[in-house]
Amino acid sequence: MSELNTTALKILENGKGILAADESTGTMTKRLEAVKVPSTPENRLLFRETLFSASSMTGCIGGVILYDETIKQKSTNKYSIPELISKMGSIPGIKVDTGAKVLANSLDEKITEGLDGLRDRLKEYYKLGAKFTKWRGVYNITKEHPSKLAIYSNAHALARYAALVQECNMVPIVEPEVLMDGNHSAHDCFIKTSEVIQKCFEELILHKIDLSGIILKPNMILSGAESKNKIDGKEIAKMTVECLKISVPTEVPGIAFLSGGQSEIEATENLDLINKQNNTNFIMSFSYGRALQQSALKHWSKDINNIEETQKIFNHRARMNTLAAQGKWSKELENK
Ligand code: 13P
Repeated sequence: MSELNTTALKILENGKGILAADESTGTMTKRLEAVKVPSTPENRLLFRETLFSASSMTGCIGGVILYDETIKQKSTNKYSIPELISKMGSIPGIKVDTGAKVLANSLDEKITEGLDGLRDRLKEYYKLGAKFTKWRGVYNITKEHPSKLAIYSNAHALARYAALVQECNMVPIVEPEVLMDGNHSAHDCFIKTSEVIQKCFEELILHKIDLSGIILKPNMILSGAESKNKIDGKEIAKMTVECLKISVPTEVPGIAFLSGGQSEIEATENLDLINKQNNTNFIMSFSYGRALQQSALKHWSKDINNIEETQKIFNHRARMNTLAAQGKWSKELENK
């Protein structure tokens, strides 16, 4: 077993998942302003440190994805943030792409940037304690999109990224996100997501990636947010498992879904249904941003020094998702 495989499995062992706390300063500012908290470096750290020192970090959160600002900050007890995360029994990771920009010659689509200088940035993050990384490619569904150009160019960038990350001894999270925006059907999402993921693996293989040392972070198969033809959770789970079964090579140890705009309960319920139907060897867990943080952030904003109550809310969501990652969740548990 390679070291990278061991790390990937450790992040996702026993129903553990990933806390995606890697919002860029711009995105975090929007989130904080929405709950009327000034977006200062101190406040961004205070909210994140509140989560990173919560008790569920030990049994439920196998890894935390950080943003450049946070990985360099010190916690109130003087540990660096990666040290704090490690002391809690979790593994620190880092977002390394520099964002999705307009794709030349297909102006309604995006290409993710960040390859220039990446090798040196990775060395720095490794020294700061990161053991894994994230890069997100993003695709939208319309009649013409995602285009072959967007599918190919993002897959190529994801593979070049993954190769540099493994060279630096870290586990790359490969995140091709097909967005929920639009009125497309779940069938369209299934077809497009399958095509996107299959192209990613074609490129990953071409770039000689050790597939046993990556984590795939895909979207679930959902109908578009504005679609009138919604499918139920069981159908979501069935289509999601089928898509991954036909698209992901068996060497890949684990899949950690993004929440992508689902509500907290939807994201938990769908993950649970996926695991109740999971007839593959892939671990299927979570790598949630909004679906782990929304309620905690709302509560915290009422009194940013009430650490304990905020942690209780976060601990509950983390526990519910850990149960869902093992197919052991039920609605009744939400109210206990
Ligand atoms: P959401 O779970 O809020 O979609 O965020 C996950 C993520 O890391 C997107 O890149």
